[in-house]
Amino acid sequence: MPFELIRTKVIGRVGWITLDRPDALNALNAAMVGEIASALAAFGADPDIGCVVLTGSERAFAAGADIKEAGERTYPETFIEDFLASWDAVARMRKPLVAAVAGYALGGGCEVVLMCDVVIAADTARFGLPEVKIGVMPGAGGTQRLVRAVGKAKAMDLCLTGRMMEASEAERSGLVSRVVPASDLLAEAQAVAEAISTKSRINTMAIKEAVNRAFETSLSEGLLFERRTFQALFATLDQKEGMAAFAEKRAPQFRNK
Ligand code: CAA
Repeated sequence: MPFELIRTKVIGRVGWITLDRPDALNALNAAMVGEIASALAAFGADPDIGCVVLTGSERAFAAGADIKEAGERTYPETFIEDFLASWDAVARMRKPLVAAVAGYALGGGCEVVLMCDVVIAADTARFGLPEVKIGVMPGAGGTQRLVRAVGKAKAMDLCLTGRMMEASEAERSGLVSRVVPASDLLAEAQAVAEAISTKSRINTMAIKEAVNRAFETSLSEGLLFERRTFQALFATLDQKEGMAAFAEKRAPQFRNK
């Protein structure tokens, strides 16, 4: 895949997307978001890929939406073009997404992290929604997904002051799954993604869908969705294989069927 602002690679069954705009601390301009969407679509359609890792550089996962690109926009333009709507491509990815975050994950960078499923943070990671400092507010899900991730009090604190939080605070707050030394970040992300990608694709995609449903619906509807999805898995060969392998004390060979 020929890209200019991201790099992609495949390790085993894991697709990697590395944001690669070092001069702007990986600020997310329209072109970069388009490239991320294309790479996700390609990995999503690739039957050999079970999980995707999204990462940046040691200095920055991404320092937000591109402020220089956005600065001169007018309200009619942002409305007619539905500015930032294209970022939903990340949230719409059906295969599990692991964020591997070092350095700054600010504004839109933090919002992309919030769209991912598992978040591995280096101890150098710093998260924040500093839009309030530049005369706007989070616009790619920050006010909604951050509240669900860390609760109202912490979300208000971050959105209203624009301050950054360290990896340890982000982990305590529930924004981050695990914190590791910076030198271990990529290996840990690969290990997590590999563990996911060796499971049945049907299972991991169904689990992602069910967990995300918790944010969209009532408890009783969510529980019903979960139970029906669980029951549906009994129509798969991978359920037969997984349970037979357990009984036979061997490793399962999932075929995504
Ligand atoms: N957009 C465009 N360029 C950016 C950028 C951004 N979000 N963040 C950093 N850059 C650029 C800088 O302009 C600078 O470029 P030049 O060398 O050409 O001047 C380069 O990246 C390096 O940045 P700094 O010199 O500022 O580096 P620093 O180490 O002194 O500071 C920082 C790092 C604290 C992250 C600082 O760059 C910063 O505050 N960046 C902006 C963070 C921000 O406000 N993000 C929110 C954006 S709005 C948004 O995301 C809306 C939304 O909801 C989607």
